[in-house]
Amino acid sequence: MNISNGLEDVYIKNTSITFIDGEKGILRYRGYDIHELAENCTFEEVAYLMIFGELPSRNELVSFSGTVQKSFSLPSYVLNVIDALPQDADILSVFETAFAAFSSEERNFSWSREATLAKAPEILGHAAAVLAAAYRHSQGLKYNPPPASDSYAKSFLSASFGAVPERKIVDAMNRSLVLYADHEVPASTTAALVASSTLSDMYSSIAAAVAALRGPLHGGAAEAAYRQFTEIGRAENTDEWFSKNIIQGKKRLMGFGHRVYRTYDPRMAIFKSMAASLAKDEEERNLLRIAERLERLGVEKFSPKGIYPNTDFYSGIAFRCIGFPVTMFTSLFALSRTAGWIAHMSEYVENGGRIMRPRAVYIGHGPRELPGEKAR
Ligand SMILES: CC(C)(COP(=O)(O)OP(=O)(O)OC[C@H]1O[C@@H](n2cnc3c(N)ncnc32)[C@H](O)[C@@H]1OP(=O)(O)O)[C@@H](O)C(=O)NCCC(=O)NCCS
Repeated sequence: MNISNGLEDVYIKNTSITFIDGEKGILRYRGYDIHELAENCTFEEVAYLMIFGELPSRNELVSFSGTVQKSFSLPSYVLNVIDALPQDADILSVFETAFAAFSSEERNFSWSREATLAKAPEILGHAAAVLAAAYRHSQGLKYNPPPASDSYAKSFLSASFGAVPERKIVDAMNRSLVLYADHEVPASTTAALVASSTLSDMYSSIAAAVAALRGPLHGGAAEAAYRQFTEIGRAENTDEWFSKNIIQGKKRLMGFGHRVYRTYDPRMAIFKSMAASLAKDEEERNLLRIAERLERLGVEKFSPKGIYPNTDFYSGIAFRCIGFPVTMFTSLFALSRTAGWIAHMSEYVENGGRIMRPRAVYIGHGPRELPGEKAR
């Protein structure tokens, strides 16, 4: 029996959403190159593009963004659930718990196109509000919905920090939202697809995706990569750290390697230049120098095996420059990826996707008898 460990090279759906060429390092959403989208589009436009197939007209965008902005208000039962969690709770688990709480009202959810059209902007608004509320909870602060604005990134930052940040910070937040918005069917999207293939509701399916995202081999890699830089401390320690931990210690270099890319992840360079242009003090510039040195060492050692830096290598430094602590990094990934999860689930269900029910090859005991009472 042929078993694919880790489902490597198993195709679970057709998709028109995201194209990846892992050999050439190309990433496109609905045919548009990631560089073009990151440079020229708002996250709302990209989310709409991914979920509905085309960029929105002006009217479509106004209506979509209107629902997104309204959904920065959270029902009191969700705020109460967040408040009930300890202040030092893992922020991503607060996000997951809040989504599970939302699902309590989704008894009659249907996966029709109309339902997706109505639900998608509501979920995107709720996701940003929940994450801002979770962040504020971690700081011992109450959540207040921000004033409606012309941008998802701006509203999210205002809701998180309690003030509108400067333009270049909003632009950087927008760009990072676009860069993480989708990546075909990694573990978290596959988890969302498994849940939605049973016709579960969108909130629950996103909670399932978040559960799969949190591990260090997937969404947790930006945090893990960043923690390497802080552990190294200074650029001149990098070679020794690399030799001790990666060469002799045989640890994985976090922020390197990818199941699909066999070259540079195209998002990495965008995050790298964002981090370089945002770094505002010696501490951030120091982190960048460490990362650059580690990148060189990692590429020298691992590129012969097709292992290169991925998007998570520099994104943590960019998130820090935007103003977030390391404990927020995986949740920021989750916030963007909510758009991709919705797009893939809708595409799968609307195209008649069947319930996902694989098989396992049984290799355990043959039939046997329970031991007698005394032997137990
Ligand atoms: C992303 C990742 C899980 C993909 O893994 P995968 O396709 O299943 O590849 P494998 O885990 O089977 O690794 C294949 C080989 O490359 C090596 N490898 C892969 N990533 C590595 C890394 N980051 N550092 C060192 N070695 C690595 C493995 O040790 C293995 O070597 P071997 O064949 O000698 O045993 C893996 O590259 C990884 O753990 N990276 C670090 C975490 C990370 O940055 N994740 C974010 C992904 S966007």
